[in-house]
Amino acid sequence: MKYNLIASLSVIGSVIMSCNHNFDRIPVHENPRSEYAPNMYVSEAYEPFTLVDDSAAYPEEYNVMPYNNGMNMRMPVPGTIKRGYTPYSVSKDSLEWANANVKSPLDTTEQILAEGEVLYVRFCAHCHGETGEGDGPVSTKLAGIANLKSSSLKLVTAGHVYHVITHGKGRMLQHGSQIESSDRWKIALYVKNVLQK
Ligand code: HEC
Repeated sequence: MKYNLIASLSVIGSVIMSCNHNFDRIPVHENPRSEYAPNMYVSEAYEPFTLVDDSAAYPEEYNVMPYNNGMNMRMPVPGTIKRGYTPYSVSKDSLEWANANVKSPLDTTEQILAEGEVLYVRFCAHCHGETGEGDGPVSTKLAGIANLKSSSLKLVTAGHVYHVITHGKGRMLQHGSQIESSDRWKIALYVKNVLQK
């Protein structure tokens, strides 16, 4: 009984205490009253992208993390490659070399070609057209879109198509930053093995 009384009193007490917190007046430096665990209401924020390191000029905004060599965001180790990213070191002007030497790491399976079709429709068809003849809706605005079924493009390899998707060519902009490496290969294999057949 005695313990029940103490427990209910402390619950009532903390409810009353919590009403005391003045939410309209954060920050409450001038008149803090009694505030339970103030650092939970007004926590110290370390913004990773807005480093303010001049404490004399901006005492309020100063937000440099003291424990991390003064950096709010850690730099990755030199040479770090982000997860899921496959580097492609063949430079843009080595298209001929890519045509002869760059080979697909993926096997040409039904599954890969089906995925390649979905990606082609998503990323290429608005320019090159669903059937690859350079007649997508954008072709009314942008001249010179290549016909992927032309006899000269039927002679190039999947490595060539991969290279063009990655770096772009002439009036076609690069897609390497938008489409990840394995998806670029799926598109290239789809273009060579389905679209151009
Ligand atoms: C914004 C429109 C546009 C998009 C999107 C686009 N292309 Fe192109 N593409 C072009 C144009 C324009 C050319 C002609 C480039 C030139 O030679 O000036 C071209 C050329 C090409 C060529 C021929 C390169 C050569 O060696 O002559 C290939 C292959 C190609 N594109 C594949 C693709 C694939 C695959 C996609 C989808 C990932 C794609 N393109 C997306 C506009 C586009």
